[in-house]
Amino acid sequence: MDIVNNIAKLQGLLKPHRQEGSIGFVPTMGALHEGHLSLVREAVKNNSVTVVSIYVNPTQFNDKSDLDRYPRDLQRDIKLLKKTGCDVIFSPSDREMYPEPDNRKFDFGALETVMEGKYRPGHFNGVGQIVSKLFDAVIPHKAYFGLKDFQQLAIIKKLVSDLNYPVEIVPCAIVRESDGLAMSSRNELLSPEMRKAAPFVYQTLKDVSGKSKSHPISSIKANVKQAFKNHELLELEYFEIVNDFTLQSIDEMHPKTACTACIAVFAGKIRLIDNFQLNS
Ligand code: PAF
Repeated sequence: MDIVNNIAKLQGLLKPHRQEGSIGFVPTMGALHEGHLSLVREAVKNNSVTVVSIYVNPTQFNDKSDLDRYPRDLQRDIKLLKKTGCDVIFSPSDREMYPEPDNRKFDFGALETVMEGKYRPGHFNGVGQIVSKLFDAVIPHKAYFGLKDFQQLAIIKKLVSDLNYPVEIVPCAIVRESDGLAMSSRNELLSPEMRKAAPFVYQTLKDVSGKSKSHPISSIKANVKQAFKNHELLELEYFEIVNDFTLQSIDEMHPKTACTACIAVFAGKIRLIDNFQLNS
Protein backbone atom coordinates (compact mmCIF):
# COMPACT_ATOMS: atom_id res chain seq x y z
CA MET A 1 0.00 0.00 0.00
CA ASP A 2 1.38 3.39 -1.01
CA ILE A 3 0.86 6.49 1.09
CA VAL A 4 1.23 9.73 -0.83
CA ASN A 5 0.55 13.33 0.02
CA ASN A 6 1.03 15.07 -3.29
CA ILE A 7 -1.12 15.06 -6.38
CA ALA A 8 1.71 14.57 -8.90
CA LYS A 9 2.89 11.38 -7.15
CA LEU A 10 -0.66 10.13 -6.86
CA GLN A 11 -1.26 10.63 -10.57
CA GLY A 12 2.01 8.83 -11.40
CA LEU A 13 0.87 5.79 -9.40
CA LEU A 14 -2.55 5.77 -11.05
CA LYS A 15 -1.36 6.23 -14.63
CA PRO A 16 -1.13 2.51 -15.51
CA HIS A 17 -4.74 2.03 -14.39
CA ARG A 18 -6.21 4.97 -16.27
CA GLN A 19 -6.57 3.32 -19.71
CA GLU A 20 -6.41 -0.39 -18.96
CA GLY A 21 -7.88 -0.75 -15.48
CA SER A 22 -10.44 0.89 -13.27
CA ILE A 23 -9.73 3.40 -10.50
CA GLY A 24 -11.99 3.11 -7.46
CA PHE A 25 -12.03 6.04 -5.05
CA VAL A 26 -13.27 6.41 -1.48
CA PRO A 27 -13.03 9.98 -0.17
CA THR A 28 -12.92 10.20 3.64
CA MET A 29 -11.98 12.56 6.44
CA GLY A 30 -10.25 9.74 8.33
CA ALA A 31 -11.15 8.46 11.81
CA LEU A 32 -12.21 5.40 9.87
CA HIS A 33 -14.84 2.98 11.07
CA GLU A 34 -16.57 -0.08 9.66
CA GLY A 35 -18.81 2.14 7.49
CA HIS A 36 -15.78 3.52 5.64
CA LEU A 37 -14.12 0.10 5.47
CA SER A 38 -17.22 -1.39 3.83
CA LEU A 39 -16.91 1.24 1.07
CA VAL A 40 -13.24 0.42 0.63
CA ARG A 41 -13.93 -3.32 0.39
CA GLU A 42 -16.60 -2.65 -2.24
CA ALA A 43 -14.11 -0.53 -4.22
CA VAL A 44 -11.37 -3.17 -3.92
CA LYS A 45 -13.75 -5.86 -5.22
CA ASN A 46 -14.68 -3.88 -8.32
CA ASN A 47 -11.58 -1.97 -9.45
CA SER A 48 -7.98 -2.68 -10.41
CA VAL A 49 -6.75 -0.02 -7.99
CA THR A 50 -8.38 1.58 -4.96
CA VAL A 51 -7.49 5.02 -3.61
CA VAL A 52 -8.69 6.24 -0.21
CA SER A 53 -8.25 9.93 0.56
CA ILE A 54 -7.90 11.03 4.16
CA TYR A 55 -8.32 14.75 4.49
CA VAL A 56 -10.27 16.80 7.02
CA ASN A 57 -11.55 19.50 4.72
CA PRO A 58 -11.74 22.84 6.56
CA THR A 59 -14.03 24.53 4.03
CA GLN A 60 -16.98 22.26 4.80
CA PHE A 61 -17.06 23.03 8.54
CA ASN A 62 -19.40 25.88 9.34
CA ASP A 63 -18.54 25.50 13.03
CA LYS A 64 -14.86 26.01 13.92
CA SER A 65 -15.16 24.01 17.17
CA ASP A 66 -16.52 21.03 15.19
CA LEU A 67 -13.43 21.21 12.94
CA ASP A 68 -11.08 21.49 15.94
CA ARG A 69 -12.52 18.50 17.73
CA TYR A 70 -12.92 16.32 14.60
CA PRO A 71 -11.06 13.05 15.42
CA ARG A 72 -7.76 12.43 13.62
CA ASP A 73 -5.56 9.33 13.87
CA LEU A 74 -3.69 8.67 10.63
CA GLN A 75 -1.60 5.78 12.00
CA ARG A 76 -4.70 3.91 13.12
CA ASP A 77 -6.39 4.59 9.75
CA ILE A 78 -3.34 3.23 7.89
CA LYS A 79 -3.42 0.01 9.95
CA LEU A 80 -7.12 -0.47 9.23
CA LEU A 81 -6.73 0.20 5.51
CA LYS A 82 -3.83 -2.26 5.17
CA LYS A 83 -6.27 -5.05 6.01
CA THR A 84 -8.79 -4.07 3.32
CA GLY A 85 -6.67 -4.41 0.17
CA CYS A 86 -6.60 -0.62 -0.38
CA ASP A 87 -3.74 0.23 -2.77
CA VAL A 88 -3.14 3.93 -2.24
CA ILE A 89 -3.80 6.34 0.62
CA PHE A 90 -3.86 9.97 -0.45
CA SER A 91 -3.33 12.12 2.62
CA PRO A 92 -2.66 15.67 1.44
CA SER A 93 -1.86 18.80 3.45
CA ASP A 94 -4.06 21.91 3.41
CA ARG A 95 -1.49 23.56 1.17
CA GLU A 96 -1.66 20.71 -1.35
CA MET A 97 -5.45 20.92 -1.58
CA TYR A 98 -5.77 24.69 -1.24
CA PRO A 99 -2.58 26.34 -2.56
CA GLU A 100 -4.84 29.38 -2.97
CA PRO A 101 -8.17 30.07 -1.27
CA ASP A 102 -10.98 28.43 -3.19
CA ASN A 103 -13.56 31.11 -3.97
CA ARG A 104 -15.78 28.96 -6.15
CA LYS A 105 -19.48 29.09 -5.38
CA PHE A 106 -21.53 26.07 -6.38
CA ASP A 107 -25.23 26.21 -7.05
CA PHE A 108 -26.95 23.05 -5.95
CA GLY A 109 -30.38 24.66 -6.24
CA ALA A 110 -33.12 23.47 -3.91
CA LEU A 111 -31.04 20.44 -2.87
CA GLU A 112 -28.92 22.64 -0.61
CA THR A 113 -31.57 24.85 0.97
CA VAL A 114 -33.02 22.14 3.22
CA MET A 115 -31.86 19.99 6.14
CA GLU A 116 -28.04 19.96 6.39
CA GLY A 117 -27.80 22.85 3.95
CA LYS A 118 -30.22 24.92 6.01
CA TYR A 119 -28.62 24.18 9.39
CA ARG A 120 -24.99 24.16 8.23
CA PRO A 121 -24.67 27.18 5.94
CA GLY A 122 -21.77 26.84 3.50
CA HIS A 123 -21.28 23.15 4.29
CA PHE A 124 -22.21 21.83 0.86
CA ASN A 125 -20.24 24.51 -0.93
CA GLY A 126 -17.19 23.23 0.97
CA VAL A 127 -18.08 19.64 0.09
CA GLY A 128 -18.39 20.68 -3.58
CA GLN A 129 -14.99 22.38 -3.45
CA ILE A 130 -13.12 19.45 -1.97
CA VAL A 131 -14.89 16.67 -3.86
CA SER A 132 -14.28 18.43 -7.19
CA LYS A 133 -10.60 18.93 -6.28
CA LEU A 134 -10.29 15.28 -5.27
CA PHE A 135 -12.02 14.11 -8.46
CA ASP A 136 -9.62 16.32 -10.48
CA ALA A 137 -6.66 14.76 -8.66
CA VAL A 138 -7.75 11.10 -8.74
CA ILE A 139 -9.95 11.10 -11.88
CA PRO A 140 -11.69 7.95 -10.64
CA HIS A 141 -13.85 5.63 -12.70
CA LYS A 142 -16.01 4.89 -9.66
CA ALA A 143 -16.41 6.80 -6.39
CA TYR A 144 -18.06 5.31 -3.30
CA PHE A 145 -20.20 7.27 -0.85
CA GLY A 146 -22.18 6.13 2.18
CA LEU A 147 -25.95 6.58 2.27
CA LYS A 148 -25.69 7.87 5.82
CA ASP A 149 -24.89 11.25 4.27
CA PHE A 150 -28.04 11.01 2.19
CA GLN A 151 -28.19 14.70 1.21
CA GLN A 152 -24.46 14.80 0.44
CA LEU A 153 -24.96 11.94 -2.00
CA ALA A 154 -27.64 13.92 -3.89
CA ILE A 155 -25.37 16.99 -3.92
CA ILE A 156 -22.45 14.97 -5.28
CA LYS A 157 -24.59 13.42 -8.02
CA LYS A 158 -25.58 16.96 -9.04
CA LEU A 159 -21.95 18.11 -8.96
CA VAL A 160 -20.97 15.20 -11.20
CA SER A 161 -23.76 15.92 -13.63
CA ASP A 162 -23.22 19.73 -13.67
CA LEU A 163 -19.45 19.44 -14.16
CA ASN A 164 -19.61 16.36 -16.41
CA TYR A 165 -17.22 14.27 -14.37
CA PRO A 166 -16.78 10.87 -16.04
CA VAL A 167 -17.27 9.03 -12.76
CA GLU A 168 -19.87 6.54 -11.60
CA ILE A 169 -21.16 7.36 -8.12
CA VAL A 170 -21.74 4.18 -6.11
CA PRO A 171 -24.02 4.62 -3.08
CA CYS A 172 -23.37 2.16 -0.23
CA ALA A 173 -25.66 1.08 2.61
CA ILE A 174 -25.48 2.59 6.09
CA VAL A 175 -23.48 0.42 8.50
CA ARG A 176 -24.84 0.32 12.04
CA GLU A 177 -23.60 -0.67 15.47
CA SER A 178 -25.37 -3.68 17.01
CA ASP A 179 -27.72 -1.31 18.87
CA GLY A 180 -28.67 0.44 15.62
CA LEU A 181 -26.59 3.62 15.93
CA ALA A 182 -25.36 4.60 12.46
CA MET A 183 -21.56 4.43 12.35
CA SER A 184 -19.91 7.85 12.26
CA SER A 185 -16.48 9.23 13.08
CA ARG A 186 -18.20 11.61 15.50
CA ASN A 187 -19.54 8.69 17.60
CA GLU A 188 -16.16 8.37 19.29
CA LEU A 189 -16.66 11.88 20.71
CA LEU A 190 -19.84 10.84 22.56
CA SER A 191 -19.64 10.62 26.35
CA PRO A 192 -20.61 7.15 27.69
CA GLU A 193 -23.98 8.58 28.75
CA MET A 194 -24.66 10.09 25.32
CA ARG A 195 -23.46 6.93 23.57
CA LYS A 196 -26.03 4.96 25.54
CA ALA A 197 -28.76 7.40 24.58
CA ALA A 198 -27.83 7.75 20.89
CA PRO A 199 -29.55 4.57 19.51
CA PHE A 200 -32.84 6.36 20.28
CA VAL A 201 -32.30 8.17 16.96
CA TYR A 202 -32.47 4.91 14.99
CA GLN A 203 -35.32 3.55 17.15
CA THR A 204 -37.27 6.70 16.27
CA LEU A 205 -36.66 6.18 12.55
CA LYS A 206 -37.75 2.54 12.78
CA ASP A 207 -40.87 3.59 14.60
CA VAL A 208 -41.55 6.19 11.88
CA SER A 209 -41.09 3.50 9.23
CA GLY A 210 -43.64 1.27 10.99
CA LYS A 211 -46.20 4.08 11.10
CA SER A 212 -45.53 5.55 7.68
CA LYS A 213 -48.12 3.49 5.83
CA SER A 214 -50.95 4.05 8.27
CA HIS A 215 -50.39 7.49 9.84
CA PRO A 216 -50.45 10.93 8.23
CA ILE A 217 -47.05 12.59 7.96
CA SER A 218 -48.18 15.55 10.08
CA SER A 219 -48.92 13.28 13.04
CA ILE A 220 -45.68 11.30 12.55
CA LYS A 221 -43.73 14.57 12.67
CA ALA A 222 -45.59 15.79 15.74
CA ASN A 223 -44.85 12.48 17.51
CA VAL A 224 -41.14 12.67 16.70
CA LYS A 225 -40.98 16.26 18.00
CA GLN A 226 -42.73 15.23 21.19
CA ALA A 227 -40.53 12.16 21.68
CA PHE A 228 -37.42 14.35 21.64
CA LYS A 229 -39.03 17.02 23.81
CA ASN A 230 -39.55 14.28 26.38
CA HIS A 231 -36.00 12.98 26.01
CA GLU A 232 -33.63 14.07 28.76
CA LEU A 233 -30.42 14.05 26.74
CA LEU A 234 -31.04 14.29 23.01
CA GLU A 235 -32.14 17.46 21.26
CA LEU A 236 -33.86 17.33 17.87
CA GLU A 237 -32.56 19.75 15.24
CA TYR A 238 -34.78 18.62 12.38
CA PHE A 239 -36.89 15.70 11.27
CA GLU A 240 -38.15 15.59 7.69
CA ILE A 241 -39.72 13.10 5.31
CA VAL A 242 -38.38 14.00 1.89
CA ASN A 243 -38.70 13.00 -1.74
CA ASP A 244 -35.53 11.01 -2.55
CA PHE A 245 -34.81 12.96 -5.72
CA THR A 246 -35.79 16.54 -4.89
CA LEU A 247 -35.05 16.31 -1.14
CA GLN A 248 -38.11 18.48 -0.56
CA SER A 249 -40.36 17.73 2.36
CA ILE A 250 -43.53 15.84 1.46
CA ASP A 251 -46.94 16.10 3.14
CA GLU A 252 -48.31 12.79 1.96
CA MET A 253 -46.86 9.40 1.12
CA HIS A 254 -47.32 8.12 -2.42
CA PRO A 255 -46.55 4.44 -3.04
CA LYS A 256 -44.71 5.30 -6.25
CA THR A 257 -42.57 8.15 -4.87
CA ALA A 258 -39.45 7.02 -3.06
CA CYS A 259 -39.04 8.93 0.17
CA THR A 260 -36.73 8.94 3.15
CA ALA A 261 -37.04 10.04 6.77
CA CYS A 262 -34.04 12.22 7.71
CA ILE A 263 -33.05 13.38 11.15
CA ALA A 264 -30.40 15.49 12.89
CA VAL A 265 -29.99 15.39 16.64
CA PHE A 266 -27.62 16.92 19.18
CA ALA A 267 -26.21 14.59 21.80
CA GLY A 268 -24.61 17.28 23.94
CA LYS A 269 -22.27 19.10 21.56
CA ILE A 270 -22.08 16.19 19.13
CA ARG A 271 -24.36 16.31 16.14
CA LEU A 272 -25.70 13.01 14.80
CA ILE A 273 -27.52 12.49 11.51
CA ASP A 274 -29.33 9.42 10.26
CA ASN A 275 -31.99 8.43 7.75
CA PHE A 276 -34.29 5.58 6.82
CA GLN A 277 -35.75 4.77 3.41
CA LEU A 278 -39.53 4.49 3.84
CA ASN A 279 -40.96 2.93 0.70
CA SER A 280 -38.20 1.18 -1.20
O1 PAF B 1 -18.35 12.41 3.75
C1 PAF B 1 -17.24 12.86 4.07
O2 PAF B 1 -16.50 12.25 4.86
C2 PAF B 1 -16.78 14.17 3.47
O3 PAF B 1 -17.84 15.06 3.35
C3 PAF B 1 -16.04 14.00 2.14
C4 PAF B 1 -16.95 13.45 1.07
C5 PAF B 1 -14.84 13.09 2.34
C6 PAF B 1 -15.53 15.36 1.67
O4 PAF B 1 -14.66 15.93 2.59
